[in-house]
Amino acid sequence: MSAPFHYDFDTWVPRLGSQSSKWAHLTSDLPLDFANNINLGIAEMDFVTSQEIVAAIQKRAAQGILGYTAGRDESYLQSIVSWMQRRYRVATAPEEILHCRGANLALDASVRAFTSPGDGVIIQPPVFQNFAGVTQRNGRKLLENHLIQDEDGNYRMNFTQLEELAALPEATMLILCNPSNPTGNLWSQADLQRLGEICQAHGITIVSDDVHQEILRQGSSFHALGALFPANDKIITIISLSKGFNMAGLQVCHMIIPNPEQREQMQKVIGRSSPSPLEMVATIAAYTQSDSWLEQVNQYIDGNVKLYQEFMASELPQLKALPPEATYLAWLNLQSLGLEPEQINPFLREKAHLQLNNGASYGAAGVGYVRINLATPRPVLQEALQRLAQAVGG
Ligand SMILES: Cc1ncc(COP(=O)(O)O)c(C=O)c1O
Repeated sequence: MSAPFHYDFDTWVPRLGSQSSKWAHLTSDLPLDFANNINLGIAEMDFVTSQEIVAAIQKRAAQGILGYTAGRDESYLQSIVSWMQRRYRVATAPEEILHCRGANLALDASVRAFTSPGDGVIIQPPVFQNFAGVTQRNGRKLLENHLIQDEDGNYRMNFTQLEELAALPEATMLILCNPSNPTGNLWSQADLQRLGEICQAHGITIVSDDVHQEILRQGSSFHALGALFPANDKIITIISLSKGFNMAGLQVCHMIIPNPEQREQMQKVIGRSSPSPLEMVATIAAYTQSDSWLEQVNQYIDGNVKLYQEFMASELPQLKALPPEATYLAWLNLQSLGLEPEQINPFLREKAHLQLNNGASYGAAGVGYVRINLATPRPVLQEALQRLAQAVGG
């Protein structure tokens, strides 16, 4: 057997002219000169995806005919079934899997398919901003079960309040983020068990957004709600290639919906959603041939998390930065700077030539925080942290 291909994640991949939303502002191919803002906001990595995915897409595109696909193709659906079983102990079947163009659409469609106007949807802020967005835009009632922080700033679930909200007559759905964006929480088996039991007792449908499940620290385990409650057919799982395989631009997303009636309801909402030929071959290559890439990218991100933790402890100890338990996203408390939410982005842009995600966009609980994307070549991360230290410290 040949040795696995070794990926070089240290080297910056030029992005000029690639219509990248994250790097459209660059004026040269290297983001390191001070005139260029370093963007560690948008949640995508600055790394190439697995060579197997790239080769599969190239091969399919080279055929030159990109016609309608057989979206229920067995090898394609089976690659998803096997991935979920092998990596996350989720037992599913091809007929339970529906394709959707992106996780944002899957979230929106879930709210429309499984709740009615006026129903309550529970979310756990600070959390991915579109959970609130899809709830409110569809005229559903937002039920906020705020995460609580211990004295060190670590987040945990508030089960007392969850019990109260779940018991409300209008409560119909809970949207879970596991692992959590932006706090980086990797929810424990015990937490998920408790959350699942509360929802089950009140007949609440859970939409588990697991799109960050592939990015984990070495030695830690991801627990899927669907694996813990195999008999509960009111748990919908959203998975995608966007985060774990760094292909957000292709918007490859799948929903696992065990209950046939709910599948039918979903089908009515999303209509005919067929995967494109490129999405299909990318899915198969990701889920059957890309383990080595995933392992290497996770190791590299672990190194960046360590660098972040050590840098922050030595250069900015007053900020008490916490490393993320999972994901490549770090959630940093800047409240000690005394800035208003609307002053944070201009401060970072002007003083540090940095773009980060403003915590206020994750709800009131995120005010004074920023989210930093650590999935970038180490020299870029080092430069970004130095700029932050100079701006905050100087
Ligand atoms: C938890 C979560 N869900 C959904 C999305 C949206 O994913 P996509 O762009 O693939 O639709 C994101 C993107 O950041 C996310 O973090």
